[in-house]
Amino acid sequence: MNTTTNLLSEFKSIFNTTKEPRIFFAPGRINLIGEHTDYNGGHVFPASLSFGTYALGVKRNDQKLRFYSLNFPEAGIIECDLTNLLFHEKHSWANYPKGMLLYMQEVENKIFLGADILYYGNIPNGAGLSSSASIEMATGVLLNELFELQMERIPMVQLGQKVENNYIGVNSGIMDQFAIGMGKKDHAILLNCQTLEYEYAPFVLKEHVIMIINTNKQRTLAGSKYNERRAQCEEALKDLQKELSVSSLGQLTKTDFEQKKHLITDTVNQKRAKHAVYENARTLEALEKLRKGDLPGFGNLMNESHLSLRDDYEVTGLELDTIVQAAWEQKGVVGARMTGAGFGGCAIAMVEKDQVEEVKKNINTIYHETVGYDATFYIATIGDGAKEISKGEII
Ligand code: GLA
Repeated sequence: MNTTTNLLSEFKSIFNTTKEPRIFFAPGRINLIGEHTDYNGGHVFPASLSFGTYALGVKRNDQKLRFYSLNFPEAGIIECDLTNLLFHEKHSWANYPKGMLLYMQEVENKIFLGADILYYGNIPNGAGLSSSASIEMATGVLLNELFELQMERIPMVQLGQKVENNYIGVNSGIMDQFAIGMGKKDHAILLNCQTLEYEYAPFVLKEHVIMIINTNKQRTLAGSKYNERRAQCEEALKDLQKELSVSSLGQLTKTDFEQKKHLITDTVNQKRAKHAVYENARTLEALEKLRKGDLPGFGNLMNESHLSLRDDYEVTGLELDTIVQAAWEQKGVVGARMTGAGFGGCAIAMVEKDQVEEVKKNINTIYHETVGYDATFYIATIGDGAKEISKGEII
């Protein structure tokens, strides 16, 4: 499958229709730095990728909804009704679009007809590159256009987060939906997650690439320790609020933290909070390094970020640590760290272009020896955020 034309014919045969669907795309994302800072009111620095989720849809004349994913053909067509959009275990992946529909309908109250929607994604599932937020945002832009809702992008991004938090039950922050909804080709986004102020930073590397390295260890956010980390940060914040008038850890400087950390009674919570505060500072510094063209400085911050996620936040694990450690040992690697929630998923490395093949080979040898299976390597290209696309586009 390599063009949207193939998806169009799949659409017609799966839904047994001659109607021409409209085609939408939402990317996946990587986060360059600023991990586990979003729900702590700190900064993140993600970018949208050129691979993602395609969604093709037509309105129906009744209130039926039919969803099909070429990635989960065994699930078949998943059907439900506009009048009953509650979460249903047996609707598996289709709960993401259902949640989006439910919340967009609640806000706009303009969706009176059903739809047939086909999904195809080329983001590796469970790799921590936000395949679920990508489905949410692809659905968001599709519904917005099919039903002429005229919803602004940031409220749509916020609804995507609400789907994760309230509908799916993962207490994630806003980073993924924001990166995917607001992404811009060749740019990373510095986002203040407390205020939602953001700025685009040109991210075009001349002699280097960002390599994505998939551990191929599947992880699901809901089943992970994600919610526990968030709760630990909230407890730490409560302790600090006994003397400080702040509403998030993201408001603390490193000095504030060092002066007041004794207030955090639990030593584990203290480590979690330290990561949140220091990582936020690193993220702001990283933007400065990038602006000055200081890639080695940027790379060092990536390395420090990983160490903090490994030692203080404890969300890495053998697979990510093996890959990142192996990357650090390679000639031509400027910096490497895990990206996303952790607990498996992907790492990223900034690598000199002419060392890419050698670096891949060496990392994989070490990885295979340690865990018994291969890693997968991709070169990141930074594309646009969620949008409608035209027929025949290469995917
Ligand atoms: C996941 C969540 C994000 C963010 C990252 C960690 O991707 O969905 O909100 O918390 O983990 O930085």
